[in-house]
Amino acid sequence: MEHLLSIEAMYPQNMVKYIDHAVTLKTRRGKHEEFPLEGQVWALLFSKSSTRTRVSFEVGIRELGGSPLFLSSNDIQLGRGEPIKDTARVLGRLVHGAIIRTFAQSDVEEFADYSGIPTINALTDDEHPCQILADLLTIREKLGGWDGRKIAFVGDGCNNMARSWCWAAKHLGFSLTIGSPEACQPPADFLGRLDTSNITITSDPAEAVADADVVNTDAWLSMGQEGQTGKEAQFGSYQVNSALLQGAAPNHIVLHCLPAYRGKEISEDVLEQHADTIFQQAENRLHIQKGIMARMAKHRVL
Ligand code: CP
Ligand code: NVA
Repeated sequence: MEHLLSIEAMYPQNMVKYIDHAVTLKTRRGKHEEFPLEGQVWALLFSKSSTRTRVSFEVGIRELGGSPLFLSSNDIQLGRGEPIKDTARVLGRLVHGAIIRTFAQSDVEEFADYSGIPTINALTDDEHPCQILADLLTIREKLGGWDGRKIAFVGDGCNNMARSWCWAAKHLGFSLTIGSPEACQPPADFLGRLDTSNITITSDPAEAVADADVVNTDAWLSMGQEGQTGKEAQFGSYQVNSALLQGAAPNHIVLHCLPAYRGKEISEDVLEQHADTIFQQAENRLHIQKGIMARMAKHRVL
């Protein structure tokens, strides 16, 4: 049974395979001759809001011949305390795959263990693997690849995006610099687990973006942290704006997983100047996720 639970648990060669497959699917969109999800229902279990992830998965499932079933945790018994393992055992008998957006990484892993169906992490507090794969596809399209490139992440170095970027850097070997206030840097136990020399952590945002080919940012407060004004106040000098980008490599690109908070982690002018890349990045979610589901459906024994 194949799952996609984290970048941490992925084999580098599979990351590259998913990206290669997405390139083919993107070129052939609307002209597919294979419908690997035909006759299948894939459930989306979401405990957090979503625009891109929900829409790209629902459209992708339909384009592959299947039917999506969106289940907000507020609408099902999970939201009233039914255990994950019971929800997983029920859905495993009724649907063919599950896409889960929630808080705890352990909940997605428990679902995968008990459901017996392919399970995809659509964002947890620890990881956002589908987003990172789409971002890597965008880097390949815009810069030809990541080998020898410097990638910077400026913002909350503890959040799901920063953590998934760290695992991607470890697996693929590119240079990654995280620029984050000290209190929001990846914790020591995480760095110990990561154990790699191609990642630099700094509290100086200018050092983080110096000569960077890719400058990445994300909301200062992730879903579930709304109202943490004390945390947000630490990020004042970490905005990705034209002054900060002066130190980046001449042909740098800017990535943002969205939703963006203009005037906070990114300035209006930088977002609009890099909108082509950022919205291409958003579209790439569809192509990557179609590749992932097609592969899982192929490996599934019904
Ligand atoms: N980037 C991303 O996952 O967006 P949504 O929260 O809108 O799904
Ligand atoms: N770090 C953000 C990503 C949103 C796609 C969050 O978890 O809210």
